[in-house]
Formats: sequence, C-alpha cells, structure tokens
Amino acid sequence: MADLVIRGGAAVTPAGLQPADVVIASGTIADLVPPGSPVGAPETVDATGCLILPGVIDAHVHFRTPGLTHKEDWDHASLAAVAGGVTTVLDMPNTLPATADADSLMAKAGLVAGHSRCHYGFYGALAASNLTCLPGLAAAGVLGFKVFLGETTASLPPPDDGQLLRAWQVTAGLGLRTMVHAENAAIIRLATAAPEGSVPAGGGDVGSLLAHGRSRPPVAEVEAVSRACLLAEAAGAPIAIAHLSTAGAAQVVRRAKGEGVDVRGETCPHYLLLTEQEVVTLGALAKVNPPLRSAADRDALWQAVGDGTIDQLGSDHAPHTPAEKACGDLQQAPAGFAGVQNSLPLLLGDPRLSVRRLVELLCEGPARNWGLWPRKGRIARGADADLAVVRPVPGRLPPRQWSLHPDSPVLRCRPARAEVLATVVGGRTAFRDGLPCGPATGVWLRP
Ligand code: DOR
Ligand code: ZN
Repeated sequence: MADLVIRGGAAVTPAGLQPADVVIASGTIADLVPPGSPVGAPETVDATGCLILPGVIDAHVHFRTPGLTHKEDWDHASLAAVAGGVTTVLDMPNTLPATADADSLMAKAGLVAGHSRCHYGFYGALAASNLTCLPGLAAAGVLGFKVFLGETTASLPPPDDGQLLRAWQVTAGLGLRTMVHAENAAIIRLATAAPEGSVPAGGGDVGSLLAHGRSRPPVAEVEAVSRACLLAEAAGAPIAIAHLSTAGAAQVVRRAKGEGVDVRGETCPHYLLLTEQEVVTLGALAKVNPPLRSAADRDALWQAVGDGTIDQLGSDHAPHTPAEKACGDLQQAPAGFAGVQNSLPLLLGDPRLSVRRLVELLCEGPARNWGLWPRKGRIARGADADLAVVRPVPGRLPPRQWSLHPDSPVLRCRPARAEVLATVVGGRTAFRDGLPCGPATGVWLRP
C-alpha cells in the first residue's frame, strides 16, 4: 500500500529525465510507474509541469546550535532547508562549545532531536586542541571531520602540519573524510597588517570595501589547498576542499585528482554567481570567508564545475544578526550569510548547468562524499524517499525566507529561477504550497 504518489512530473534519475509517477511507501521510493498508472494512496502531489529531484543534500551548513542561536536556530534553519528542497544537511562543528569530542556531539544531537524538519548529520572538529578525540567522535557518529586551517567563528586552534599529518593517519584508519577550510593563516596575518590591507577608520570608499578581500589573497587559498592535498596523500586520508573560491586552488584540486589523490572539490553558489563587485555595492552583507573574488576566478570555477574538478555544491549557510553585520567596520563585521534555502532556486535553470549536472552537484556528489550513497542522492526504486518537486519560473521574485536571519547578497542580486512546490523527507511531505507541514521528523544520520 502506497503512502504518497507524486503525479505528472519528470523525475531526474541517474539515467536522465523520465516522465514518471513516483510511488512512496514506508519512507522509501517503492516504484516509478508510467504517468497516470492506477495507484491508490492517501496523499497525492500534483507535479504537472514540474521536475522531481532527489532532495538536496547540503553538506555545508552552520546551523549555530549550540551557543550561537541568536544567529540561527535549528527550527528556523531546517524549515528554510525544506522550503529550498533540501532534505539533508551536514552541520559544521564551529559552535559554542565546538563539536570537538563525543560528549559535545551527543549534547548537540540532544538539542537538535525533535527540531529538524530535514535529516541531518554532523561533522566533528579536527583541531590542535582535540587530536585525541577523533576516534571517539567517529564512534559517536560523525559523518566526517572539519579542519579550519585558519581562525573561524568559535575558537578551534588550527593544527600545525605535523599534527595534521598525524591526525589524517588516524582519520584514514577511521574511514572518514575531512572537509578542509583552506586558507593560510600566516599569509592572512601578513596581508592584513600591510597598508593596502588595512581599513581606514570610517572607510566606505571602494578601496576600503575591497580591503577584506585583499587581506585574504588568492595565494592564501592556493597554498593551503596544495598543502592539504600533499599531506592527505601522504597519510592516505580522504579529504574535500570546502568553498573553492579561486582559479589557482581549483587548478591544484584538478591536478591532485588527476594524480589519484582522494580529494573532492566544493564550491558555493555565491562564488559562482557573484564577484568582489558585490562587496562594493553591499558592503558587510557580502563579506564571507574566503572572500568573493574576481570575474576571472568565477569563470574558472564554472570551468571546474564543468570538468568535474568540483563535485559538490554546498551553501555554507552561516547567518549572523543584522546588527552584527551592520557594526560599521567591514574588518570587524563577521563573515558569512544565509544560503540553505536558495541553492536550488538560484541555480536550477541557469543556462550554464544542465538539470542532470545540477543534481550531480547538489545531491549525488554530497551523498557519495559523506557516505550516504546509494541510499540518498538519487531517485530509484528502494532509495530513501527524500525528494523535491520544483517548477522552473524564470525571473521570479525571491520566495518567502524562513531562516532566522535570511539576508543574502546572492538573493539580493540574482533571481530565484525555480519554485519549490513540495519537499518530501523520509516519505512525508515536510513542505508544501509555501508552508511547512506536520511535525519535525528529520532523522540523525550516522555512518
Ligand atoms: O564566512 C564564513 N563564515 N566562513 C567560514 O568559514 C565560517 C563561517 C561562519 O561560521 O560564520
Ligand atoms: Zn563554512
């Protein structure tokens, strides 16, 4: 007996677009049947004129629980997720306290339980301060690790090269991938101190607005990505480079992949859709780490998306309060902004991306990278019933936003091209016709 049928749409399967009715029973995709087949079910979603995609797996979010819930909280963030067709999020460890040992992981999981409309998994921190805690984090259920090679929101001291090599020998044995925030802290310190990197008091001219970007020059990313690839190869550890922002770093990943290093590449919609020009027009709202770059970098990232160097798109959803963002000093303002609701609406229908490639980047790639494939990330008989029903609507105004602090430079500057009509999480409609439905039934995903 079916629980739900999605009728009249075109399903995006690993084989391509397929007009089909999707039959869901007991939380899984029971069948794909010819459109109009007689299937009885208590609930039906009319997907006429829509695409049916695997639910987006956003493997890069900062949902801020615990300790930073003035910036974002899980109820708002997971509602924003399902409103954007996201059915699984993987949450970063730079909370307060950081997710740095098994106890902090269990405490975070306890706070999230019953508050998530989407499924969720957690990264454990990999920092100079918790190197002995990695096996305990693995045993307690992280899907991977996150290392910040420079400073970040919440204090996670970066490991030195020796510590990182040793840690990656451990994570290789644990069989878990590490996501790397790759910016060289020493280069950033030097560039920030240099006259061209400092912000004059009361700044506001173009030079001072671009100073944050100059304080984190491309070479800071290129060096850190090169070092990460080298050490990961030496340790035999799987890694993924977070939020690639420069042509040079993408080239390093391309070369490392070609040489057989187990490295995956991520970028974010803002690096594909914006440049440093948006920092000039929007100021602190567009401040993010790594910073928005040149048009040449953006174009190189599109090339890396096209040739498979980049295999995952994450939103890097990292909201701050409007007051924090409006502190009046770009160098002091926190970096990051909301995004989890908008990756799919902003990119579906972009002329540079086929629907199939978009599904590879938003669903299949993240599922493969973090151990969720083949249960998640694809539409096929027997896979989990995590689905998004979307209608391409070129040039539409931004839909209602559900994050606690949803402002985003991307949404200010680029049109949402698609509308999410329904999101199915674990076989139940979690969002439909512009509103959330039912209780929060997202499940904690462990390896
Ligand atoms: O801009 C950023 N914000 N980049 C990061 O790596 C961290 C994030 C945050 O947590 O605020
Ligand atoms: Zn991040």
